[in-house]
Amino acid sequence: MGWVWLSIFINLCLAVFVPWADDDPFVGLEAPQDQKTILPPLVPPNKLDDSNRSLKKNGQIPDYIIDNCPLVHLYSEERYWPSDIAEYVTHFDIKDAQGNNVTDPLETLKLSSLQLNYYYKLFNGTYNNISSRDTFLTSRDDFDKDPKWLLGSRPEYGTGHIKNGPAVLMVVDKGNGWVDAFWFYFYPFNLGPFIMGYGPWGNHVGDWEHSLVRFYRGEPRYIWMSAHGGGSAYRFEAVEKVKKLRRRNGKLTPEIVHRPLIFSASGTHANYASVGQHAHDVPFFFMPLSDFTDRGPMWDPSMNYYAYVFDGEKIIPSSDREESIGVNWLHFRGHWGDKQLPWGDSRQRWCPVQWRYIDGPTGPLDKNLPRMSLCPRFVWWNFWKGCPARRLIKKGEGLDAEKNDLIGDNCGILLYKVKPRWLRSILRILTWRGVLCFVMDYFTG
Ligand SMILES: *[C@@H]1O[C@H](CO)[C@@H](O)[C@H](O)[C@H]1NC(C)=O
Ligand SMILES: *[C@@H]1O[C@H](CO)[C@@H](O)[C@H](O)[C@H]1NC(C)=O
Ligand SMILES: *[C@@H]1O[C@H](CO)[C@@H](O)[C@H](O)[C@H]1NC(C)=O
Ligand SMILES: *[C@@H]1O[C@H](CO)[C@@H](O)[C@H](O)[C@H]1NC(C)=O
Repeated sequence: MGWVWLSIFINLCLAVFVPWADDDPFVGLEAPQDQKTILPPLVPPNKLDDSNRSLKKNGQIPDYIIDNCPLVHLYSEERYWPSDIAEYVTHFDIKDAQGNNVTDPLETLKLSSLQLNYYYKLFNGTYNNISSRDTFLTSRDDFDKDPKWLLGSRPEYGTGHIKNGPAVLMVVDKGNGWVDAFWFYFYPFNLGPFIMGYGPWGNHVGDWEHSLVRFYRGEPRYIWMSAHGGGSAYRFEAVEKVKKLRRRNGKLTPEIVHRPLIFSASGTHANYASVGQHAHDVPFFFMPLSDFTDRGPMWDPSMNYYAYVFDGEKIIPSSDREESIGVNWLHFRGHWGDKQLPWGDSRQRWCPVQWRYIDGPTGPLDKNLPRMSLCPRFVWWNFWKGCPARRLIKKGEGLDAEKNDLIGDNCGILLYKVKPRWLRSILRILTWRGVLCFVMDYFTG
């Protein structure tokens, strides 16, 4: 036991060094050191004025955003593929936290029924006025039985087009030449991980993931990708690219563009920059909890997406298609899937750290789109609020990891090389479930 405390102590000491050794959170916004120029600061969207706005106010999506749209390798044995939110919501009713009808279950729910606040009649005849935050999209079918709509659609082979699975693009002006392109990926179901053969844990109906490509004057500078409420930030040049023909208004041109590649993990759809096994970034969680990515079917979100521009004042739909579904659904702050099943439900299970079924997630506007840092938020132990963009991709471990991926990682590799699993588990505990590695990676990555 003494060793554990010593290890925690050492880790704490290391963590405490960070604020001195590291620059402020805006370090990611500066140019690499070899370029002498310091780029201008980002401007919070609500502080923009006409002198420092980066985008025209007509709601047009700049071409460079589409040219640098990430491609997503889904997992080869994925069961829950992307789907269309407009079709998805038709299988739901909106209920409040007590299970009362907020919308009429006799009518089909439409995206346009999703809104900021609800005023509805309770069964005893009184009226209630609540924020959508306290509501849940509640499935009409038993989601435990995998209804067809829960499975989503695979990308078409070759093109990567998902006809019934538009991505959602939110373009946010960050002023002084900076523009953020948030690509949201919607999956109808999140299948959580297994822990030592038991599971899955942490399943939920509805799954929103996203990536962010940050541009300065039309040049992609940074990319950030979401994973389990956190994620990882990279310099744009660090991530793998795929050559594709440039599209203009849906038509192919002979020009080649190099598009960034991200990998969506099996079941959880967490995003990573490489192939293999990825430990969840959850310190204090001593169990070997991992995500897996591989080069499964490639999804090209630029073939089908709903696009909106946020110019600092309002959300502007980019075409008639978005106009027809309106922007109200973006203001819906409720849960995009069922409330956590109650303890007594036969489908629910519990283990000391997790439930089998948890609440559905909240939507795109809950992901801190006005953020200045690349990271949407900071976990409590990251008190120095660091979100440095890595120069090297964080490599996956494990059997699926590609050979080259094993070169260049440091701590993860050391642990990976420890063969007996029991010994490795002990070492992982001693290294505070990877925090030590995290800290080392933080400096060397
Ligand atoms: C640009 O943005 C800042 C907010 O950081 C604002 O105070 C300022 O008035 C704007 N205009 C100019 C010319 O800087
Ligand atoms: C919700 O509405 C349906 C159909 O009108 C009704 O059968 C059901 O009892 C209502 N549920 C609650 C909790 O009021
Ligand atoms: C109806 O139910 C709500 C919530 O359960 C309660 O707050 C309210 O007082 C009830 N109204 C009447 C008239 O019983
Ligand atoms: C419900 O509450 C919101 C905000 O609290 C308010 O703007 C709205 O007018 C209310 N609606 C009704 C019908 O009372």
